[in-house]
Amino acid sequence: MKIKTAEFVISNTDYKLCPEAIYPEYAFIGRSNVGKSSLINALVNRKNLAKISGKPGKTQLINHFKINDNWFLVDLPGYGYASTSKTNREMFKGMINKYLFNRKNLICLFVLLDIRHKPQPIDLEFMKKMEQDRIPFVMVFTKSDKISQTQISKNIKHYKTEMLKEWGSLPEIFITSSEKKKGRSEILKFIEEYNEGFNPTLIG
Ligand code: GTP
Ligand code: MG
Repeated sequence: MKIKTAEFVISNTDYKLCPEAIYPEYAFIGRSNVGKSSLINALVNRKNLAKISGKPGKTQLINHFKINDNWFLVDLPGYGYASTSKTNREMFKGMINKYLFNRKNLICLFVLLDIRHKPQPIDLEFMKKMEQDRIPFVMVFTKSDKISQTQISKNIKHYKTEMLKEWGSLPEIFITSSEKKKGRSEILKFIEEYNEGFNPTLIG
């Protein structure tokens, strides 16, 4: 898919104030600093559309971007951000959960995982919850430019082994690097296929 336009629409704390749910929507989630905002920028070929930071906790709102005038990308705050207060963490969690459970045009959630790290309980628990609540998601490994191909294969295998202890099968997996634009065309192709099947009259 060719990206012709990418524009910021609105930032919210409340899903009810998000843009009208008439276009297919894809949201990015994962721990703080995993690379959600960077991947959104890489996908749409823009450096500063979504705000990036070296420090975790940069994205604090539900941010809508309209792409090609007919679909949305959503940048969400990171979960499990340790440096913020417990009250804040709970507030973010409530805001994100309400969005995830109520947003009718959310086609797929991209769960981002840092390829350098072993499976973390917080990520495994989050994905388990998504499965239980039937929120469709895929796994997106980030920052693959930071380690060797051998290490990538080893870490993915580790993830699969860990998850298959509990899951019958695994969701689709993408390996990405925003730095090198790796995985970009695969993700855009995935989105394009879902966009083609989207029928706004079936939302309800
Ligand atoms: P929060 O908004 O705080 O939850 O973080 P985020 O998940 O949106 O992460 P963000 O995109 O802001 O990136 C965090 C840091 O990781 C920044 O310093 C990025 O430059 C860096 N980063 C993100 N993706 C990549 C990547 O693919 N490769 C490399 N080398 N660095 C990356
Ligand atoms: Mg961010």
